Amino acid sequence: MGRFYITTPIYYVNDEPHLGHAYTTIMADVFARYHRVAGDDVLFLTGTDEHGQKVAQAAKERGVHPQDHCDEMVERFRRLWATLNISYDDFIRTTESRHRRVVQQILQRLYEAGEIYPDDYEGWYCVPDERFWTEKDLLDGKCPECGREVTRISEKNYFFRMGKYREWLTDHIRDDSRFVLPPARRNEMLGFLRRPLNDLCISRPKARLAWGIPLPFDESYVCYVWFDALINYITAAGYLQDADAFGRWWPASCHLIGKDILTTHCIYWPTMLKAMGVETPDSVMAHGWWLVDDEKMSKSLGNAIRPLDLADKYGVDAFRYFLVREMVLGMDSSFGETGFVHRYNSELANDLGNLLNRTVVMAKRYLGGRVPAADTNHPDLAELKVQARRTLDGVTDALDKMNPAGILDAIWDLVRQANRFAEAQAPWNLARDPDGKDTLKATIYGLLETMRYLAVLLFPVLPEKAEEIWAQIGADGEVKTRTMRDLHSWGGLRAGADVNAGSPIFPRIEPVEKDLSEKADMADGKEDLVPFKEFQKLEFRVARVESADRVPGADRLLTLQVSLGDEQRQIVAGVAKQYQPESLVGRQIVVVANLEPATIRGVASEGMLLAASADGRVALLQPDADVPDGAEVG
Ligand code: ME8
Ligand code: MG
Repeated sequence: MGRFYITTPIYYVNDEPHLGHAYTTIMADVFARYHRVAGDDVLFLTGTDEHGQKVAQAAKERGVHPQDHCDEMVERFRRLWATLNISYDDFIRTTESRHRRVVQQILQRLYEAGEIYPDDYEGWYCVPDERFWTEKDLLDGKCPECGREVTRISEKNYFFRMGKYREWLTDHIRDDSRFVLPPARRNEMLGFLRRPLNDLCISRPKARLAWGIPLPFDESYVCYVWFDALINYITAAGYLQDADAFGRWWPASCHLIGKDILTTHCIYWPTMLKAMGVETPDSVMAHGWWLVDDEKMSKSLGNAIRPLDLADKYGVDAFRYFLVREMVLGMDSSFGETGFVHRYNSELANDLGNLLNRTVVMAKRYLGGRVPAADTNHPDLAELKVQARRTLDGVTDALDKMNPAGILDAIWDLVRQANRFAEAQAPWNLARDPDGKDTLKATIYGLLETMRYLAVLLFPVLPEKAEEIWAQIGADGEVKTRTMRDLHSWGGLRAGADVNAGSPIFPRIEPVEKDLSEKADMADGKEDLVPFKEFQKLEFRVARVESADRVPGADRLLTLQVSLGDEQRQIVAGVAKQYQPESLVGRQIVVVANLEPATIRGVASEGMLLAASADGRVALLQPDADVPDGAEVG
C-alpha cells in the first residue's frame, strides 16, 4: 500500500474564500480521494495562514483583535469546505501552539547553526506583498511582483542564508523533473535561479508589525509570515513532535498551489528545508488562474466569484465536476456560467445521468426491478468489459501523472461506450423477442455492472451523486468504503438485489441568458406574442417511442421511453385515454426537446410530445416519411 501526503496552500484569513481557493482545495480533495480509492494511506492537509501584515490590517480595519478576527474568519473556510465535501484529514492554523512551538524551535536551531544572522538592512519594501527588494530588483521604481509603490526602509533585521543554496537548488530542480510541475514552471524557476539569489529577510520589528511568532532569540522581532507559513507542512506531519509520524508522512507527495506562490514554494521552501537537514517534497504542482473577464479574480478587483452561489444553484457535485473538468492543470481558464451549464447538460445530464436513468428504468420495466442472474460471460458483453478494464488502467495512469482531466477522459470513454452498447443491444426489442431473454438479462446486467464501476471511479469527484448511483443500482453498502480492488473482477453486483429507479441525478438545466438585450425584447413584446428570438430557443425533434407504459393511478398518463438517436429520454404524456401503450412502440413522434424537466405524478419527464387536440380527440404529430431519430424539426 502506498502513501500519499497532499497539501493545499494555507489561505490568508483576510479574505472571504472565493472560487480560486475552492478550486485548489477541490483539486487536492479529488487527488486525496483517488489515492484512497487506489488503496493508499492518505494525509490531506489544508488550513489557514493567520499571521502577518494582511491579517493584522484586516483585523484593524474591523476594530477587532487579530486573534478574534482569525477565529471568526477561519469558520468561513471550515464551513465552505464542509459544504463542498472536502475530506481533509487535518486543518492547521498557524496561530495554534503546535505550530508556534515548531516554528520557534526551527528558528532557534537555524540561528545557532549560523543559518540566520542579524544585519542592517537598507532597501525597498512592498507593504502589501510584505517583500523586500533591492534597488535593482525594482521595475520602474515599483514592486517587480505587483507593480505597486514601495517604501524606503532602513533597519536591523535577521536574515536566512538562502543565497548560498543557489547552486544546490538549481541542480535539484534540474535533476528531479517531478519537483516543479508542470514543466513550464520548472523552466521559470530555473530562469529565476540564473540571477543572483539574495539572503531572505525573515524578521519584522515588532514596532512595525506585532502580529506574528516572536523570534526566540530576539523578542523585539516577529517572524516573517512566509517563513512561518511554509513550515505548516512539516508541523502537521509531526516534525519535532512525533518522529514516527514524520518518518511516515514526510516528504510530502505534493504541495498543490496556484502559480502566484511559486517562488515561495520552489525557492524559499526547499532552501529552508535544506538548511534544517530535512528532505524536500516530492513535487510542487502549480495550477493556473481562474480569470473573470480575462482578469485574475481577486477581492480587490471586485470580481470574485462566490463558490457557494454556484454550488447552491447547481449542486456541489456538478460544481466540483466542472472545476476538475474545465481547467487544464497549469493553464489559466476563464470562468463563465454559460460554459458551466453547457458541460452540465451535455456531460452530466445527457451522458452520465441518462445512462443511469435508462439502465435502472429498463431493469425495472423488463426485469422486475432486480439485478438479473445473468451470464456475465455473455459474448455481447466482451467489448464493454474490455473498455471497463481500459478505463481502470487509464484512471490509474492519469492519477499517476496527476492529470485530473485525463482521469475524467478515461471515465467518459466508458460512459460513452455504455451508451453505445445500450443503443446497439436495443433491450426494448429484446424484450419483445421470445428468444431474447438471456441477451436481455446479460445486457441489463452489463449496464448495471458498468454503473457500479462508474460509481466507484466517480466517487472522488462526485461524492454525493456516486452514492445515489450506488443506491439506485442496488449495490451493497456504501460506495465510499470501496476501492479499486472491488473493480478487479467484473461481476460484482449481486443477482437478485433491488434496483431502485430514482429521479434523474442531474436534471437538465436551462441555459443561462446570454444577452441582456434578449431580456429587453421580452419585456417589450406584447403579452400574447412570442418574440422570434424566444421561439428560436425551442428545440423540436423527432423521437422514436421505444416503450410505453401506463402510470399507475393516473388513467390519462403514459410514460414513454423515446430515442433521439444519440440520447434516450423519458417523457410523460397525457394520451393514455386515446392510445394503447403497445400501439405507440416503434412510432416516430415530435417532441420539444429542451424543456425544463418536470416531475408529473412522481415520474420524471424530460420533454413534451406534440399532439393536436379537438373535442377530446387527440392526434399525435408525426413526420410523414421516416427520418433519422433525433432529426430537428423547424
Ligand atoms: O497566498 N485562480 O494565501 P491566499 C486560481 N497564505 N487559484 C487561486 C486564485 C485564482 N484566481 N486566487 C487564489 C497565500 N487562488 C498564502 C499561502 S502557503 C504556505 C501560504 C488559490 O489566501 C491558489 O491556490 O492568497 C493560490 O495559490 C492561493 O489561493 C492563494 O491563497
Ligand atoms: Mg493571494
